[in-house]
Amino acid sequence: MDVRSIREELLKSFENVRTLEELEALRVRFLGKKGVIQQGFKKLKELPPEEKKAMGKLLNDLRKEVEERLASVRERLLEEERKQQVERERIDVTMPGTELAWGSTHILRKAKEELQYIARKLGFTIVDGPEVEDDFHNFEALNFPPYHPSRDMQDTLFLPGGLLLRTHTSAVQIRALQRKKPPVRIFTVGRVYRREEVTARKFLAFHQAEGLWIDKKVSIGHLKGVLAEFIKGFFGPGYKLRFRPSYFPFVEPGMEVDVECVFCGGKGCKVCQYSGWLEILGAGMVHPNVLRAVGYDPEEYTGFAFGMGVDRMVMLKYGINDIRLLFDGNQKFLRSV
Ligand code: DAH
Repeated sequence: MDVRSIREELLKSFENVRTLEELEALRVRFLGKKGVIQQGFKKLKELPPEEKKAMGKLLNDLRKEVEERLASVRERLLEEERKQQVERERIDVTMPGTELAWGSTHILRKAKEELQYIARKLGFTIVDGPEVEDDFHNFEALNFPPYHPSRDMQDTLFLPGGLLLRTHTSAVQIRALQRKKPPVRIFTVGRVYRREEVTARKFLAFHQAEGLWIDKKVSIGHLKGVLAEFIKGFFGPGYKLRFRPSYFPFVEPGMEVDVECVFCGGKGCKVCQYSGWLEILGAGMVHPNVLRAVGYDPEEYTGFAFGMGVDRMVMLKYGINDIRLLFDGNQKFLRSV
């Protein structure tokens, strides 16, 4: 057997190895049990004794050489592979990044926070009340006569067990008065529900803000001053307010308050139906019956309350003409305001 030519073949094969798999095939071919070198050792016994020794040495040297070659080629291939991997996984830090979709504050929430900010500045405490109410807090304590039309199925969404979804945030007045001692000065913003046919102007749910101030000698003058601050804070300075007598069971006198049209400045336009005024809130001096219902002496304490339509104010401020847009989470719309 010609060890020298085996060696040559072997060295040549190593030159062409490109992958670890190929290298492994080579190893099997030369060093495996049935490999060339092993075959060589087997054939040793057929040789005459004087050649045996020399041949044995040649084969041993060859095996050693092959082992060393294998090791060094393996090292080279592994190194190449590492380099390729680094190249593959290289990150080009100069590439433009992927833009993140940032969330933003919903305009209703923004309005809520703005109103709360104004209220706090005026000394009101921000409170919350439940959206699931009972008849007492939503109607009875607010001096609604037993057969008042607003208790009617048309307006109120009733729940099992004598409960209902509050129809106005005025219910929070009662909860605050029950919980606190005078003076009471609270402000709340929240969702209310009515059984309405859904249109561009009306939705099953909407938002109200409610303020209440009970103390000794609180007058309509205070109410006017506070409302003027709210309108100025929310819509900006310079809008006139108009107070019109109106009826709400829980106030006496009751009134509706209009703000000069924020679109035409009072000249008259489509939004204000050419009246120059926008109706945005109800208010009045708290009815003695309400104070009595929660154990306050109306001879000692007086106060005012007001309720604003937050959705309407938001729609006017941003020029939105469909209330449903405030509820359906449409990204395209929300990004545009
Ligand atoms: N709760 C009334 C409504 O939902 C609004 C309102 C009117 C609230 C007069 C008040 C008020 O506090 O004094 O229409």
